[in-house]
Amino acid sequence: MLNVCLFGEPPPPAPAVITAPPPGITAEYGKYVATFGECRGCHGPNMTGSPATSVSLAVPDPRPFVSTLTLEQFTAMLRSGVKPDGQPFPPTMPWENASNMNDDDLNSTPGVDCILHQESFQFARPYPSLPV
Ligand code: HEC
Repeated sequence: MLNVCLFGEPPPPAPAVITAPPPGITAEYGKYVATFGECRGCHGPNMTGSPATSVSLAVPDPRPFVSTLTLEQFTAMLRSGVKPDGQPFPPTMPWENASNMNDDDLNSTPGVDCILHQESFQFARPYPSLPV
């Protein structure tokens, strides 16, 4: 009871086995990558950004900016850590993790979903309970 008062309702239990969906540029695979690629840990449970807290700065919703890019610009940006205008990502955005992803993984992140499908997908489960 005390636990519920302090932390709210507990998240639903994670399933015992997590099976990756088939790789590809799909919302389903994008959610999987955004969860296990840790994007949601900073950009918020739905990748819509996180407000500043007493211990961390605000993290932006990537969609408005990313929707102005081509797929090639997006991929080059996350592979190099430099935005198309020449501005490097600050150390608070761990682009090196994304740069090590293979093409299927990188091209299925929510940013790409926003470029290709103009969608803003919602996650069924709150982070960090798993899976998507
Ligand atoms: C440790 C926290 C953290 C993680 C993990 C993280 N990001 Fe970020 N991200 C940030 C911060 C902070 C910024 C803002 C950087 C800036 O001020 O330019 C950012 C910026 C971005 C931007 C540019 C948005 C804009 O409006 O300029 C994109 C795109 C992005 N992140 C994608 C991702 C993806 C895809 C992942 C997962 C592979 C990811 N991020 C994981 C913290 C994080």
